[in-house]
Amino acid sequence: MNITSLRAAIRAGGVVAFTGAGVSEESGIPTYRGTGGFWTSYDPDKYASIDYFQQDPSYFWAFFRDTRRFLIHEAKPNAAHKSLANLEELGLLDAVITQNIDGLHQAAGNKHVVELHGSYQKFSCTKCDAVYPLAHIEREIEKPLPPQCIECDSVIRPDIVFFGEMLPPDKLEKAYQLASQSKLILMIGSSLVVYPAAQVPHVAKQSGARLAIINLEPTPLDDFADWVFHEKAGIVLPELLEYLT
Ligand code: APR
Ligand code: ZN
Repeated sequence: MNITSLRAAIRAGGVVAFTGAGVSEESGIPTYRGTGGFWTSYDPDKYASIDYFQQDPSYFWAFFRDTRRFLIHEAKPNAAHKSLANLEELGLLDAVITQNIDGLHQAAGNKHVVELHGSYQKFSCTKCDAVYPLAHIEREIEKPLPPQCIECDSVIRPDIVFFGEMLPPDKLEKAYQLASQSKLILMIGSSLVVYPAAQVPHVAKQSGARLAIINLEPTPLDDFADWVFHEKAGIVLPELLEYLT
């Protein structure tokens, strides 16, 4: 099926988008698994797993210090984020469910965003109730790592989901609810190999939704989809919008 029929499906409403690292690639943020992806130079078992964080948090914090410029400082919403914000503004997109922690959907103007993996906007103490904004962490990572709580000296952690941790149940439930109530789900820029990204399309289809995959490289769910575009999200999404209204 082609882009014209996808436009018609979008006009019919009930659209939900699910995004992964690929949607931010054109903002200069490396993906995780693709060429040049974070996990090609940092072993996620060491730099992003809860087990290792509990053993030695300095690895994660070094990863954060070395990569935060991509995720936080230099990144601006790209054409893909802006198109999704326009869709929501037009009343044609109910919500964005994202695995990304870069906050770029909100920066583009989307109001209904479910951040399944948390974000780098908030940090908290691993022992007490203290929470810290990013600005505080920025100062702390100039000092020896890991950053420590002012109240109790314990290690500070980001409010993101590490490998080996459960996803926040309320957000996960919201994501499945949105997927099962949608008439069309757009899976954009995700390799669809990590749970729940691999599961959401099944849930949506089982509830009668149609599925569109927009991803540079093939995914394991391509055969299962009603539309597949192996193209950059920043090209496909603006093209979709062009003749939509
Ligand atoms: N437009 C569309 N797709 C793109 C683009 C682009 N400009 N650039 C890359 N891609 C595709 C790649 O082909 C790849 O299949 O985006 C996909 C990104 O896949 P991953 O790196 O696996 O990212 P994601 O699916 O979001 O990873 C899920 O795994 O490591 C964890 O917590 C991390 O949230 C992340 C999760
Ligand atoms: Zn504390």
